[in-house]
Amino acid sequence: MKRTNLLVLLALLALTSCSKHKETAFRTDELLTRWQFTHVLGEDWQDVTVPHDWAISQPFDRSYDLQEVAVVQNGEQTATVKTGRSGGLPWMGSGWYRTRIATPDRDKCYTLYFDGAMSHARVSVNDELVCFWPYGYNAFYVDITPYITGDTTDVIVSLVNKPESSRWYPGAGLYRNVHLITTDKTHVPVWGTHITTPEVSNDKALVHIDVDVAGPKDNILVLTTLYYGDEPVASAEHASATMEVKNPHLWSPEEPNLYRAVTLLMRDDHILDSYTTRFGIRSIDYSPEHGFRLNGQTRKFKGVCLHHDLGPLGAAVHRDAIRHQLTLLKDMGCDAIRTSHNMPASELVELCEEMGFMMMIEPFDVWDWGKTKNDYNVHFHEWAERDITNMVLHFRNSPAVVMWSSGNEVWNQTFPKGYETVHFLQDIFHRLDPTRPVTCGMDQAKTVIYNGFAAAVELPGFNYRTGRYLEAYEHLPQKMLLGSETASTVSSRGIYKTPAVIRPDAIYDDGQCSGYDVEYCAWSGLPDQDFELQDDYPWTLGQFVWTGFDYLGEPSPYDTDAWPSHSSYFGIIDLASLPKDRFWLYRSQWNTAEPTLHLLPHWNWHEGDLVPVFCYTTYPEAELFVNGRSQGRLRFATREEAARLAKGEQIAGVSALPPVGEFAIPDWGTAPRPELLPRYRLMWHDVPYEAGELKVVVYDADGKAAAEQIIRTAAEPDHLQVDWVNKDEGAEELAYLTVTVRDKEGNLCPDAAPLITAQTDGCTFVAAANGDARSLDLFQEPQMHAFAGQCTFIIKGKGTVTFSAPHTPLSARRTVLK
Ligand code: GAL
Repeated sequence: MKRTNLLVLLALLALTSCSKHKETAFRTDELLTRWQFTHVLGEDWQDVTVPHDWAISQPFDRSYDLQEVAVVQNGEQTATVKTGRSGGLPWMGSGWYRTRIATPDRDKCYTLYFDGAMSHARVSVNDELVCFWPYGYNAFYVDITPYITGDTTDVIVSLVNKPESSRWYPGAGLYRNVHLITTDKTHVPVWGTHITTPEVSNDKALVHIDVDVAGPKDNILVLTTLYYGDEPVASAEHASATMEVKNPHLWSPEEPNLYRAVTLLMRDDHILDSYTTRFGIRSIDYSPEHGFRLNGQTRKFKGVCLHHDLGPLGAAVHRDAIRHQLTLLKDMGCDAIRTSHNMPASELVELCEEMGFMMMIEPFDVWDWGKTKNDYNVHFHEWAERDITNMVLHFRNSPAVVMWSSGNEVWNQTFPKGYETVHFLQDIFHRLDPTRPVTCGMDQAKTVIYNGFAAAVELPGFNYRTGRYLEAYEHLPQKMLLGSETASTVSSRGIYKTPAVIRPDAIYDDGQCSGYDVEYCAWSGLPDQDFELQDDYPWTLGQFVWTGFDYLGEPSPYDTDAWPSHSSYFGIIDLASLPKDRFWLYRSQWNTAEPTLHLLPHWNWHEGDLVPVFCYTTYPEAELFVNGRSQGRLRFATREEAARLAKGEQIAGVSALPPVGEFAIPDWGTAPRPELLPRYRLMWHDVPYEAGELKVVVYDADGKAAAEQIIRTAAEPDHLQVDWVNKDEGAEELAYLTVTVRDKEGNLCPDAAPLITAQTDGCTFVAAANGDARSLDLFQEPQMHAFAGQCTFIIKGKGTVTFSAPHTPLSARRTVLK
């Protein structure tokens, strides 16, 4: 047998299917899930399962992390007390985790890998401090072999979270996975391969790999084989090698094809290590002529920003929960994620690769000028380079990642020499990864256009400030602009305030925001403004909406002494993973594969009320009926018609302008553009309410009735309906159950808010949420009030759950077969 054939055969033998954890017969990668935890060193150790967030199961309290600050970015001049800013949960303080690991083999190398530890992690092995990593979001690892003295080894991780270190809920503890990686002394270290695809076409691709080898290197042969599925497609015999792949299966959000590179380290025909790197073949480029191109095709990012928490699960990472989020976003037509404003969990990046989402990965919310007293500004000088290095090495082989961001709304934007830090950071990124550009989310538009900061950012990104896009385009040398953060529209699912008036910072006694999606914060705007910029200007690169999901903390506009508001109102989807109406507004623009038809609001009002009715749809025209009587037929306004509407003209057949409230626009803010709404929404502003049936009929381009939707006035609550909403997502462990209060006819009861309890038989209750930013119900007790008629329970395992609402006849059972 020829030597090369023999090597290929060996490579095949070495191959195991466990690509996720890079585990093969020659290395083991064990998830360390069983730990003990305490808040007081030496006492009260409790058994916990990692990933673990020590704060998320605790009661909320106004006093936690009260921050007396002026949020300068939001235009505040004087300090006020911010309640619930970081979630109203006890994530601050200290915690210790300990575990004992098996280390029986003196010939092996043992590496502890942390995917993130919140925060200021000090790792001790057999009582010796072996590693310190302050930034809670970053992954890090340490070779603990020199500290091992026997067959078992004690590991203790101490963590400290300072108050006033975050603008949102950071979570607490070992909230991401911890791995023990056992290898030969000669091995490929963590993040030890670098794969690029210098040439990509449909006929052929060049795949380049550089392999790092740790430990003794004498007589080492490095052999890499590339696989598509189980089929080997190319191989090479050097640590640095370029391979050709014929007719490659390109990666894209629509076809997320993945390859694996299996690298063998061999000495004297013995395999010492086998290391798997997952990668994709795709090309990206950005230019003023073509904008952003993926595999040669221009496209605009239909992206959302995400914070890392998973609602009622807190920061504790769970693949099923992330998969559920991404499944909903995919259905909306979203194709990109910005990991604001920190390094993501490995699981998010892996799922984006598999499910088809492009990513902007962003490490920092601040540089050396802090937004809160104890945030990353205290570490920036000493740690920024190390943090970027780990992050880029960790994720640079991912086809999903199409750009990096060096930071979000850093105040350095306003410094005379802020651009020097831009260059310093971009150079680090480029040294480690010459293939992707670096953006930066800028909100000080008026300043950065002229002070050199925006000109220094490789791919300029604007956060909001839609009114200054054109000015930026004219002045900046890049001639491209990314909506790095957009909209920040606020709403509460199922809550509608009439009349529907466009205005910033609207505050109501019930502490909610209007579901008509016409309210926002002073610094932000409405989705329609971003749609217009993306639709009308070829030099815009797309957008990342703030935010895909509601998150814990930052309850603007109820952030100033407005307890109990403690989670955001910005989400397109709420904290209970239930879509708000805005979901369908984005879907109607973004999902080009399936039609959208969505009517709002509910139909339970007082006789004689004048109710705004909106329809979000892909169909060009719609007619509204109340109890069979037409309320008029509407079509979308064209760009030209919107311009005429702006001048005060009325146009038959298109929606009239929605009312705009009276308010002063700060000079850094953006004036509302009410004329844009008739381009993207069909709106009947004053529909006289009459109990019964609200119906919309949509017509296709030929004027033929194509579909309809009916909302009926709901009677008294009659029963609970339980839907297992992630049933077909291939979840490994968690079932998401939506519980809805319905009347006898099956209509959702829009005001129903009973306390619903869950009793499990066989399975285990994990968490519950209702999407109410003011709810103080504990996430991790098996009961939750419905909010606007709905709530979500998360269950683990196989069994039956019985839901009931005490003191009512409402109940339901659901069996989860997993
Ligand atoms: C932005 C900021 C985000 C979030 C958002 C709320 O300015 O980058 O982190 O605070 O505002 O609208």
